[in-house]
Amino acid sequence: MDDDRSVDYGLLCAQLDALLKNESDALANSANFVSLVYNAMPDINWLGIYVLRDEELVLGPFQGNPACIRIPIGQGVCGTAARDMTTLRISDVHEFDGHIVCDPVSRSEIVVPLISEGRLLGVLDIDSPQKGRFSDQDQQGVESLCELFVRSIGSHATVEFI
Ligand code: SME
Repeated sequence: MDDDRSVDYGLLCAQLDALLKNESDALANSANFVSLVYNAMPDINWLGIYVLRDEELVLGPFQGNPACIRIPIGQGVCGTAARDMTTLRISDVHEFDGHIVCDPVSRSEIVVPLISEGRLLGVLDIDSPQKGRFSDQDQQGVESLCELFVRSIGSHATVEFI
């Protein structure tokens, strides 16, 4: 462990795999996925899934305060990550043009697209009250967790997957 914000992503992936491997229901697995990761990451204030529905992102299972419900593709950090189908790691959300404020406490953010066989299903969004909370290592770890999650819902993954 490098510091007290480090997460053992190898262990977390093993725990996620154990939690999801005997179940393919997307809603149940989404709820357990967000709960496991939220409780394992120090210094975060929100973690949840936005699901792609009819060309916009709609709030799904999450942990933290109530949040914005609909985010158009291309808007905010989530909508931009969804449009570009790439991870966005924002060290200071105040410097991201078009950032959508759900909780003014949030200061840094990472958004990972959830992609199954080239199709966008939604995004995982994580917020922290600390500037620069998310490292390269966090990005790699969270991307691995997202891949495991998407695999768990496998062929059940439709566009409206929850
Ligand atoms: N900040 C996000 C909106 C979602 S909340 O942080 C939960 C964005 O700019 O897309």
